[in-house]
Amino acid sequence: MQNRSPIKVIIDTDPGADDALAILLALASPELDVVGVTTVCGNVPVGQATKNLLRILNLVKTPPGLLVGQGAARPLEEDLVTAFQVHGSDGLGELDRVLTAAGAPRYPSARLPSILPTAQEVWNDCVRRYAEDVTLITLGPLTNLALGLKVNPLTVQKFHSVIAMGGAIGVPGNIAPAAEFNIYVDPHAAHRVFQASLPLTLVPLDVTTRVGVTRDLLATWADSSCDPISRVLTDLTGKAFGFAEDVEGHGTFYFHDPLAVLTAIEPSLMTMEFLHVSVEMSGQVSRGITIADRRLRKPEQKAAPNMRVAVDVNVDRALHLLRNRLCP
Ligand code: RIB
Ligand code: CA
Repeated sequence: MQNRSPIKVIIDTDPGADDALAILLALASPELDVVGVTTVCGNVPVGQATKNLLRILNLVKTPPGLLVGQGAARPLEEDLVTAFQVHGSDGLGELDRVLTAAGAPRYPSARLPSILPTAQEVWNDCVRRYAEDVTLITLGPLTNLALGLKVNPLTVQKFHSVIAMGGAIGVPGNIAPAAEFNIYVDPHAAHRVFQASLPLTLVPLDVTTRVGVTRDLLATWADSSCDPISRVLTDLTGKAFGFAEDVEGHGTFYFHDPLAVLTAIEPSLMTMEFLHVSVEMSGQVSRGITIADRRLRKPEQKAAPNMRVAVDVNVDRALHLLRNRLCP
């Protein structure tokens, strides 16, 4: 890793098992200084997302002054579609099932504080403190970012970079034949974000479905780690593996959200392409599809690129880094 001062990051998340791993990865990585974490509806309703976030943060030592805020409870126009079928009834693999030898909950659940800042307030505070040195990493639907563009534009436009896990450019979708979950849940938010001329990097299924592990391999990682926290990886992912085995049939847990965090940690892992990407906002079969304009045309003959897209990834290096950081 090149020597540079840590990148200040805000993580916007809908935990979610892979979100949890991404948050643990970010907190374990010296290249990043996590200054804020905000929740958004997605895998689970936003209140559950915030409880899950606090439960994850309670597992590790968090940076002093880390700001936590709660964001949007519903997409801009659509009804919320959740992913309990993938992440379990609590969104974290049903952690209440996991007990210590003494029969106590291994991962005590967290209570929502009576007063909680909003996501926009956390973003304002972070930009007020760190000006234009803040990178936003989104791991869920883009609802908070779309709302920020409308109600908080001076803050959002100060973000140094925005890295978003989402989309499917040249590969099938997951929640629908051609749509990736984060974009599908709030396609109107994605459209606003894609049109906003932000310094946006998209980390789509094209690369995240190249970086995965089987249940046995992840258990090997966790068992061989000297850090007791590593076992949470297997406790968090049991339901997701069940879905991958029983529904998808491939049995692989994909590191979707951790790959967005890895893009901030080590951008050279990714091969990037500047593309113009559009999103279909409504349609029986096309809602949430992300279309890149890759026609061979002179630049002036088609829409200018509106983002960088990670189109390839160094799989071995990514897996090596994930294992080293999550299971030291
Ligand atoms: O499609 C994968 C994405 O949707 C991940 O962010 C996962 O957590 C879900 O939010
Ligand atoms: Ca997520």
